Amino acid sequence: MESRVSQAPRRTVVVLAAGEGKRMKSATPKVLHPLLGRTLVGHVLAAAGAAEATSTIVVVGHKAELVQAHLAEVAPSATPVLQAQQNGTGHAVRIALDAAPDVTGTVVVLNGDVPLLRPETVAALLAAHEESKAGATVLAAEVADPTGLGRVVRDVSGHLERIVEERDASAEVRAIREINAGIYAFDAALLREALGKLSTDNEQGEEYLTDVFELLSSVGHAVGVYVAPDAEETLGCNDRAELAGLRARLRDRVNAAWMRSGVSILDPATTWIDVTVTLSPDAEIDQNSQLLGATSVGAGAIIGPDTTLIDTVVGDGAVVLRTHSIGAEVGPEATVGPFSFLRPGTKLGRKAKVGGFVETKNAELADGAKVPHLSYVGDASIGAKANIGAGTIFANYDGVRKHRTVVGDAAFVGSDTVLIAPVEIGPGAYVAAGSAVGQDVPAGNLGITRAPQRNVDGWTARKRPGTVSAEAAAKAEAERDA
Ligand code: UD1
Ligand code: CA
Repeated sequence: MESRVSQAPRRTVVVLAAGEGKRMKSATPKVLHPLLGRTLVGHVLAAAGAAEATSTIVVVGHKAELVQAHLAEVAPSATPVLQAQQNGTGHAVRIALDAAPDVTGTVVVLNGDVPLLRPETVAALLAAHEESKAGATVLAAEVADPTGLGRVVRDVSGHLERIVEERDASAEVRAIREINAGIYAFDAALLREALGKLSTDNEQGEEYLTDVFELLSSVGHAVGVYVAPDAEETLGCNDRAELAGLRARLRDRVNAAWMRSGVSILDPATTWIDVTVTLSPDAEIDQNSQLLGATSVGAGAIIGPDTTLIDTVVGDGAVVLRTHSIGAEVGPEATVGPFSFLRPGTKLGRKAKVGGFVETKNAELADGAKVPHLSYVGDASIGAKANIGAGTIFANYDGVRKHRTVVGDAAFVGSDTVLIAPVEIGPGAYVAAGSAVGQDVPAGNLGITRAPQRNVDGWTARKRPGTVSAEAAAKAEAERDA
């Protein structure tokens, strides 16, 4: 039987990330600035995923080693190609294609500083380009303020004529509000040919990728425009004020998507959720909270207010209140806070409790274990249903090495205890309040290290005569004797 399925053309993605981004005034290259869980170029690469390309090339230049190291982490299959001198976007793409002589099909070019671009838009641009069989198609947008951007110039019948940089534009062209987003699809062979013909005859003396459109149309190839349905996606970022603007827009987009999927966000304006975070329905996020990195929050959990979770896994129905947490796991129905600090290696079991003003690190609390108040728990395992009294310190550090403390199931440690690691409190053992425990307490024993109490009769009257304390003591004595 004859196959009528037409093969999708082979696609190659080229991301332009060689520029410095001077106006960022930063030691960090512009494309490595972070934005809700990814760098700018990380967002662009994520959107470019929709192209389902057979290969991805990233043109690097300014601080190439930093950009390359980042790519190795977030997009190890991408090939970095060095553009030693940044002679323009056309020059950058030329160098990319020189490094990939076998590329055919469609080449998708994306500026590295357009982080709000959606994968759906990349897919729609590609569909428009490949259906129309154009030699080149540009993603354009109608914007209120086109300042600084390339303008899309159309002829009387609405066909794309050329793209003109603002610096090279007449007053008439500057009045156009349809701009070039810096995202394109090209036929590889035609692009390669046109790139060989670029001039540097422009205000910046650079090879402009945008000149490819006029070159192609002047020899009769079709060139097209795909207008982005939402101009916001095409916003670039040139300085930190613009970056903050993009961050706020992305926050709103992320929050709206989670709310539509069944998450309650009580104050979206003060809730910052990285794009890498996952949330379950009926989770509730209260105001002034940040959920960052590889954080996930289970169904019905309540987070915040005033909580920061970094790489933290929160189970179903847990409550985390006014807390800072990094690299922790909070079990289902566990409770944390207010004012606590969970550090890496913290693992709280089901219904475990870390109360107010508690710091934990490398600490495992089994199901139902409790550290309710004012404690430091470092390098410890605490058994199921054990209770750690207020003000207990797990002294894990001897000045040279860290040591572990093990507290057995349903053990009870009295308030203001120091557990001097390495030490083990057996299951069901008790430790008397105020003890400094450096030796193991076997299961079911009471450990007590404090000195026996001695009361000195009449001390206040003798040593503090004339004070309010002496007065109160005398009154109590008189009443007792009456
Ligand atoms: C470019 C477009 C402009 C468009 C705008 C959208 C050109 C000539 N102009 O202008 O029409 O409206 O993007 O944001 O293409 N880069 C390199 N190597 C270079 C130069 C740039 O890799 O030699 C990279 C930059 O790192 C950046 C991207 O290309 O990621 C765009 O460069 P930029 O200088 O910001 O171009 P614009 O002047 O903004
Ligand atoms: Ca730019």
